[in-house]
Amino acid sequence: MNAPERSHLLEQGLNCIKDFPVLSTSVHGKPLVYLDNGATTQKPACVIDAESQFYRTTNANIHRGVHRLSQQATDLYEHARDRVRAFLNAAHADEIVFTRGTTESINLVAQSWGRANLQPGDEILITGLEHHSNIVPWQLLCQDIGTVLKAVPINDRGELQMDAYAELIGPRTRLVAVSQVSNALGTVNPVDVIVRMAHDAGAKVLIDGAQAVAHQPVDVQSLDCDFYAFSGHKLYGPTGTGALYAKRELLRDMPPWQGGGDMIYTVSLTESTFADPPARFEAGTPNIAGAIGLGAAVEYVRGLGLDRIAAYEAALLHYMTERMQGIEGVRLIGTGAHKAGILSFVVEGIHPHDLGTILDAEGVAIRAGHHCAMPIMTYFGIPGTARASLAVYNTPADVDALVRGVRKAQELFGTE
Ligand code: ALA
Repeated sequence: MNAPERSHLLEQGLNCIKDFPVLSTSVHGKPLVYLDNGATTQKPACVIDAESQFYRTTNANIHRGVHRLSQQATDLYEHARDRVRAFLNAAHADEIVFTRGTTESINLVAQSWGRANLQPGDEILITGLEHHSNIVPWQLLCQDIGTVLKAVPINDRGELQMDAYAELIGPRTRLVAVSQVSNALGTVNPVDVIVRMAHDAGAKVLIDGAQAVAHQPVDVQSLDCDFYAFSGHKLYGPTGTGALYAKRELLRDMPPWQGGGDMIYTVSLTESTFADPPARFEAGTPNIAGAIGLGAAVEYVRGLGLDRIAAYEAALLHYMTERMQGIEGVRLIGTGAHKAGILSFVVEGIHPHDLGTILDAEGVAIRAGHHCAMPIMTYFGIPGTARASLAVYNTPADVDALVRGVRKAQELFGTE
């Protein structure tokens, strides 16, 4: 994208600020500038309304009721599943399991597929760019069943060392689990290449799409990944929602990982038989209203257009990177060639938490700390970063407010 194209995109914007009620509020008497979208995005009125409408008009439990409301609630819930299917371009709705989010999706794969398919000595390959939720579930599994966890190292730009990946992947590798976009640095990983190389080695691939799905089109069929995990709340949907996509032939053979209602076919006092997927993996009453809200969120994002969102956020990231690089004493952490709308940085002489507090006083919300990605901070030899992360409603004026806030912090600390 050249400079005039970027300026044009930034001038036009995505015209969606009005859709988000919270964006018209103030913080400490200043208009809210919300740049903590990597942690969670704000919710458009259509998502809030979908949840509230469900409770006002249709609330009932699903799948097991013979009465009218239960059937309507079931239809809405399953319709939401089909919306998620379409959003990811999965071939079948039964390849979509509703979960509480990315973390639960990954734990499901570890505890169900992992325990059923992995042997002591088998290798699981993650990367040095992962969020804790794509590290700890594998560590727990390895401790329990004797599998071996390895990690692809990163370089000083915060990119994966793909030559090391080629060396690490081998006949013992059974699963590669990798983020599509790093939450801490914004690096976009070459997941298409990663999937191809893993499959060539006979390994399955899980993609953590938590920081990707809201920012670029995702097509699980063309990616050919075996598992894809994401959270609703980073996609303009409700907290406590999300999904796991898994190829039908894998889900079919996976055992349940939680027991309870809705996931059974028959139960006696000595044994049980289990429902087909996806119900087999949705024990207990699910977050019905949340799933419906998530369905509304994916439709909202599709309405804006993922290609349009990706282009706009790329232009805004470029603007933010240039402006922040222009401040003396600011060091960007994560300078890879391919990045999504996340900018991690440290400011000389100011702890990220202090910076976060000063920015908050200016109405600017960012995240400060290790971002649940401590191995990355260890690699860079820092305790944490300040992180500004973009969404569809952010504007160049938001970036300008961030820059003003950072300069103010430098003045207060005498480090300007
Ligand atoms: N995983 C979330 C983040 O990156 C909480 O901020």
